Amino acid sequence: MAEFSLPKNSKITGKSREHKAAADAARVKKFKVYRYDPDTGENPRYDKFEIDLDQCGPMVLDALIKMKSEQDPSLTFRRSCREGICGSCAMNIDGRNGLACTTAIEDIKGEVRITPLPHMDVIKDLVPDFTHFYAQYSSIKPWLQTVTPAPSGKERLQSPEDRAKLDGLYECILCACCSTSCPSYWWNSDKFLGPAILLQAYRWLADSRDEMTGERLDELEDPFRLYRCHTIMNCANVCPKGLNPAKAIAEVKKLELERTL
Ligand code: SF4
Ligand code: SF4
Ligand code: FES
Repeated sequence: MAEFSLPKNSKITGKSREHKAAADAARVKKFKVYRYDPDTGENPRYDKFEIDLDQCGPMVLDALIKMKSEQDPSLTFRRSCREGICGSCAMNIDGRNGLACTTAIEDIKGEVRITPLPHMDVIKDLVPDFTHFYAQYSSIKPWLQTVTPAPSGKERLQSPEDRAKLDGLYECILCACCSTSCPSYWWNSDKFLGPAILLQAYRWLADSRDEMTGERLDELEDPFRLYRCHTIMNCANVCPKGLNPAKAIAEVKKLELERTL
């Protein structure tokens, strides 16, 4: 029988550190945050933080910023826009991938457990390594490709109907919440492109101005790159932008099939 076990240095065996709220704090919320610093040579650990909700903004990102500014400046995480637009604060909050800046603390019952996105290498604390994910993104050539010259002095125009075909695709912020929730991606991310990148691939296939449809479909037609999606639907359930990568993947498969008929 196959045996699955974490590498020794990934096991969460480090000694937890506790950061208490002020003694007079009235509304205390407890957080358990994954910590890992490769420079120390120590195994990962969970640290405990108490936050006074009366002194903190409403979102999980507000709590993380408060922990970092007031309790432990070494706590490391990514964030930028604070508005659910940049995708950089993606992490696993209470067992579900999401954006820390759009997840309300009050929606989580009890202690809030925060870990990095699953099944990615961790650089430090809540910061996963996106190198492979971005290489996969680059592999689909995510830009408009044309062979005909652009109309002189004009943009390449698109009808409102053709533009509407990009709705549900262009909004993707490449946060990777979907890909890192996908069991097929966990086990085959070396070859399977995963829901985020396949949704992006379909974004260009669906663009009426793009003239490389055949080449793009050739690149995707592969038992691993595309066909490892088994329609488990975790991706659609978890997307913080309400997108449906599984549907986009089904559309790519449909295009692949149509050209064989
Ligand atoms: S499809 Fe949704 S979950 Fe996936 S990368 Fe795009 S925005 Fe994030
Ligand atoms: S529908 Fe496909 S891409 Fe989405 S989680 Fe399931 S296997 Fe992964
Ligand atoms: S900080 Fe940009 S999406 Fe959360």
